[in-house]
Amino acid sequence: MKVAKINTLLKSSKINTNYSVQGWVKTFRANRFIALNDGSSIKNLQCVVDFKNIEESILKRINSGAALHLEGFLVKSQGSGQEVELQVKKIKIHGDSDPDEFPIQPKKHSFEFLREKAHLRIRTTTFAAVMRVRSALSFAVHKFFQEKGFYYINTPIITGSDAEGAGELFRVSTIDPKNPPLDERGFVDYKKDFFGKETNLTVSGQLEAESYALGLGEVYTFGPTFRAENSNTTRHLAEFWMIEPEMAFYDLHDNMNLAEKFITGILKEVHNNCFEDLTYLDERLAKEDQLKPLADRSPMGLLEKIKFVINNEFKRVSYTEAYEILRNSKPNKKKKFKFPIDQWGVDLQSEHERYLVEKHFRCPVILFDYPAEIKAFYMRRNEDGKTVRAMDILFPGIGEIVGGSQREERLEIIEKCIKELKLDAEELSWYLDLRRFGSVPHSGFGMGFERLVQFATGMSNIRDVIPFPRTPQNATF
Ligand code: 4AD
Ligand code: MG
Repeated sequence: MKVAKINTLLKSSKINTNYSVQGWVKTFRANRFIALNDGSSIKNLQCVVDFKNIEESILKRINSGAALHLEGFLVKSQGSGQEVELQVKKIKIHGDSDPDEFPIQPKKHSFEFLREKAHLRIRTTTFAAVMRVRSALSFAVHKFFQEKGFYYINTPIITGSDAEGAGELFRVSTIDPKNPPLDERGFVDYKKDFFGKETNLTVSGQLEAESYALGLGEVYTFGPTFRAENSNTTRHLAEFWMIEPEMAFYDLHDNMNLAEKFITGILKEVHNNCFEDLTYLDERLAKEDQLKPLADRSPMGLLEKIKFVINNEFKRVSYTEAYEILRNSKPNKKKKFKFPIDQWGVDLQSEHERYLVEKHFRCPVILFDYPAEIKAFYMRRNEDGKTVRAMDILFPGIGEIVGGSQREERLEIIEKCIKELKLDAEELSWYLDLRRFGSVPHSGFGMGFERLVQFATGMSNIRDVIPFPRTPQNATF
């Protein structure tokens, strides 16, 4: 008998037909009702056991977490709560589960506890919903770009460059730390390392994506990214996934338009395709919100928030305008910000970004034309001599979700920046070639995929939207 997925049985299958299903037991009530889940749906299939027909020794093994193969007859359900149910004829136990030992009990567990059981937390309703939405978002990303004629490219994971210049690199080396080769000055000699030079895990595929945009026109990467920043926040991972489109002949405004269309487009897609999961997550968030003090509660539910973003334009504001708003804001005047806003040029912290998005504009905001000093070397200089054509997209509850810019395409100017910042011009000589041979105005941005998943699922900690999070002092699993 062909094995059917539970979601198809619940949605579109013929009743009064024999089916077999396989999955894991969520609960077993009254020696009669198995709630079975196979990951294909947020809903369980109710499977009804006639205990007179099933051996006692088998019945005893139907415990939470056990894996079963069931054969039975699908009928219209007699009970309320489900449309159909399976009258079980045959039970095969794939794998037992000791109910006293299985960590995922049929009760509410804290996310902190579940992070320690990251290998089993996918058996919970919430994590299964989050990960199905994550998968759908990932597909939507590819669909969006493929339909627009962008090419998907894979940029290297091991590189010699620090694209963001922030120095938050994980070294890649095969040198024996106990007995490293040394040069004449007594320093580790990386010429003798595997690649004959110092290498690290990539912090961004942008520089390589630029090279491909200046040949294929419009490209995107979607891959793992690594940052050794020691931030224990709800928005930072040491290993995260980033989507980086890069487009020839785009200026900053084209870039902002694309980024906005991209975000609303993929959110629309999951809103339509993951409605059951999102409805569950919406209710979960509402319950969690109820436990918070009134002032901390979210003004909108999850589905409402997603619809709001889909249906409303993002507000576009220059850094200078945002600076003025923040400088004159109540929390700044009352010295409530940890980092006071008192000088044009200061970097904006998450408290400022959240004030702009959540209190002042109350919608997603695109900030552009940032001071050159606080942004990376590759951003295009503006005529004013002090700002660059950067743009960040800020989201409610998340803060920065996208960072991007128009790129500096003029050779002399980018050479000057590299010199001023004392970057390794030799290491970047290939990048400068892109400005030597057929340079064009071009732009791109990077979106942190997990931050998007956070927004779409309403999960407050980024560690709960990636299967096995990597954070400082934590690389279990
Ligand atoms: O703003 P960032 O550093 O920009 C870049 O890396 C550019 N090279 C992108 C480009 O223009 N192609 O990072 C981009 C985004 C951030 O807006 C944020 O969403 C996410 O990546 N991000 C992180 N997400 C999770 N954990 C971290 N540690 C992150 N650091 C950045
Ligand atoms: Mg950034």
